[in-house]
Amino acid sequence: QRDLPPGYTIRPLCAADFSEGFLDVLRVLTTVGDISEQQFADRYAYMKKHNDAYFLVVVEDSARPQGMRCVGTGCLVVERKFIHELGLVGHIEDIAVAKDQQGKKLGLRLIQALDGVAEAVGCYKTILDCSDANEGFYVKCGYKRAGLEMAHYY
Ligand code: ACO
Repeated sequence: QRDLPPGYTIRPLCAADFSEGFLDVLRVLTTVGDISEQQFADRYAYMKKHNDAYFLVVVEDSARPQGMRCVGTGCLVVERKFIHELGLVGHIEDIAVAKDQQGKKLGLRLIQALDGVAEAVGCYKTILDCSDANEGFYVKCGYKRAGLEMAHYY
């Protein structure tokens, strides 16, 4: 927290973030769709129940008006394997910083926070997929190109 700009915190996602602009931050990343408060609550409850696998965090700016305090978000999913002696692998997903908040190192702090969680829970590595345009950002965060992403959409 000490490396964030004054007034900013990184904390776990909470149920009230539906009303703090959490989904709008995700819209910076991709299509989110029309999600009702109940649908949000149901998905949040699932993730909370599996809180040893889903770690969702948000960046909050306490200086902003209520209702729009969520300015960044990121997720770590911890995968449990058989290989590598029941190894754990972290997957970084859905990193987004509000457009008018980009360039303040919030993205970097999000990745550092999620890396810290991955290391603390015992992951032997953390991986992620990103576009060529974001490679430089992840290099600044200490990641390096490894392998090739493939996808099969349904
Ligand atoms: N290419 C190269 N360097 C970059 C880029 C980029 N696209 N973006 C940031 N950087 C650099 C910054 O200049 C900074 O470098 P410095 O330390 O030399 O000053 C460093 O990376 C850290 O940048 P931050 O200020 O922490 O970046 P920001 O808070 O703007 O967040 C992010 C970066 C998350 C990519 C943001 O621009 C964003 O939300 N973009 C839209 C959504 C998106 O593409 N998310 C990532 C999808 S991939 C995934 O989720 C796994």
